[in-house]
Amino acid sequence: MQDIIIADNLEQSLAEAVGKVEHDRLFVLTDTTTRELCWPVVQDYSVMKEATMITIPPTDEGKTLETLASVWTSLQQGGATRHSLMVNLGGGMVTDLGGFAASTFKRGMAYINIPTTLLSQVDASVGGKTGINFGGLKNEIGVFNCARSVILSSAFLRTLDHENLLSGYAEMLKHGLLSSKENWAELLTFDIADPDYDTLQALVAKSVAIKEQIVTEDPTEKGIRKALNFGHTAGHAIESLALKEGRTVLHGYAVAWGLLMELYLSARKCGFPAKEMHQMEAYIKEHYGKFLYECKHYDTLCDFMAHDKKNQGGNINFTLLGGIGDIRINQTATQDEIEEMLDYYRES
Ligand code: GLY
Repeated sequence: MQDIIIADNLEQSLAEAVGKVEHDRLFVLTDTTTRELCWPVVQDYSVMKEATMITIPPTDEGKTLETLASVWTSLQQGGATRHSLMVNLGGGMVTDLGGFAASTFKRGMAYINIPTTLLSQVDASVGGKTGINFGGLKNEIGVFNCARSVILSSAFLRTLDHENLLSGYAEMLKHGLLSSKENWAELLTFDIADPDYDTLQALVAKSVAIKEQIVTEDPTEKGIRKALNFGHTAGHAIESLALKEGRTVLHGYAVAWGLLMELYLSARKCGFPAKEMHQMEAYIKEHYGKFLYECKHYDTLCDFMAHDKKNQGGNINFTLLGGIGDIRINQTATQDEIEEMLDYYRES
């Protein structure tokens, strides 16, 4: 399992993390955005002096086999060996693709993640899921392989706009719902519109600890790690519908809407308390607005849920909750229940 470092002093944390991995050459992977905004934060650190830079296009659309091949080529041309080290500096695209490139080059070299978005700090960079999109499907090809260290610094969060902060915050709300009323209530009262970054860093640390505990128990998602998919069966369907219709939605927004839908199913099937469901509903509507769709979209949404790679034996797999912290994995729902869920969200 990886070391997760909350960096009060980024230079020192990075030097320690790099120092812990014996290596012959050091590579740093960025995308064009993080090259411009985040690399300047670390480029003068003495530990970065010898680094060879590799830069790829930004956004999830670049998370392709072609981009991956370009990274392998750069590693080869830069003289990388199995004993080299890669530092991924960026959001989930960079840490997913960079982690996969490192895990496969010469059968695997070590890598360190420095996630620069809130979403990647609390989710993508932790837990060893690496990969690329393929054949029109997200994260279709990849391996489980943890970074040696994940370094979390609030320095990068200050560069994010409000939408990207909210996008990551949805995964934190999910972790809150999976863990305890106390953690969940703390998240609802934190002022994400005008954040105090020190408090946010502490909340990130708690959130990552929740994820880490689950991943440690079940690194390859045979059981309890499925809890982390809460909100994602419906959320991914929304994301796919949006993509199909050329509407842009950030991942975390789709997760927030998906949380709401799956809380409805949780209340309907597992007795999740109505009061807390309504509290969450008010919060999500206020901060994330609403994703609009019509009855004519139901078949498409159901189809997307049916094709989720988490499904087994032809059933749509949901993680639901009996209450905050009361996780029920491997739940299924009938077509009628799913349509009721879609009605509930549309009419709410
Ligand atoms: N993002 C869910 C997981 O890491 O399992």
